[in-house]
Amino acid sequence: MKGVVLAGGSGTRLKPLTEITNKHLLPIYDKPMISWAIGTLVSAGIDELMLVTGGTHAGEFLRLLGNGHNYGLERLLYAYQDKPGGIAEALGLAERFVGNDPVLVMLADNIVEYSVRHAVDNFNANPNGARIVLSKIDEPEHLKHLGVPELIDGKVVNIIEKPDNPPSSFCVTGIYMYDSSVFEIIKTLKPSGRGELEITDVNNHFIQKSAMAYDILEGFWGDAGESIDAYWKVNDFVRINGANKEK
Ligand code: DAU
Repeated sequence: MKGVVLAGGSGTRLKPLTEITNKHLLPIYDKPMISWAIGTLVSAGIDELMLVTGGTHAGEFLRLLGNGHNYGLERLLYAYQDKPGGIAEALGLAERFVGNDPVLVMLADNIVEYSVRHAVDNFNANPNGARIVLSKIDEPEHLKHLGVPELIDGKVVNIIEKPDNPPSSFCVTGIYMYDSSVFEIIKTLKPSGRGELEITDVNNHFIQKSAMAYDILEGFWGDAGESIDAYWKVNDFVRINGANKEK
């Protein structure tokens, strides 16, 4: 399985910090944010990874990560996204790197308390279609800023991006597994109201084909890019508890 970490976008919600660097280079406790996402993929068994980034600070990733060997990677490749055209557009840049392999995708502003290896093992046991990772969120207000699955009889029947009325108390985290048909789906997408190719549209394609499975995360999950308060909440959590721990 190949890994793709997405670290483009404009980081608008963390301005002015993101005027002077890429969001994913900001610190989470004692490391740049991106290091934690790479740690999540490596602890799930990934050793070939593509990092997609963009903007004016892209070169700093090379300075930090180099060839990836210090992070436990055999091979680290880089792709450059010209403009923040959406998560699905960023993933599309990894098509040739992924080839016909299954792929584990992670948004570089997501942090997990525990390794997601079990979810990856589940996908590897049947590497067809898509598999997403859900996290229980207790505050309905918080869900309005995320992708939220509608669940019927234990199956995901739809995902709504940033819903006014969240249809469940789970969010779709930024950890996704796909077979290589994902790249054909991306080519069919139209930009959303915010002008982006949406990963939620990709996931809804798989749901319509009855090709979507999921796991529910145990422990803490955070999106450090959601707001400055979310950024500090994630920082505080990681400082006290760590991240990417084996269960
Ligand atoms: O964090 C989980 C949430 O992430 C999900 O619940 C949502 O369904 C999903 O759409 C996404 O929502 P966000 O509003 O948090 O997405 P955001 O635009 O902040 O992008 C998240 C990461 O994706 C960002 O840290 C870097 C990467 N990205 C984003 C865009 C728009 C790119 O690499 N390129 C892009 O063009």
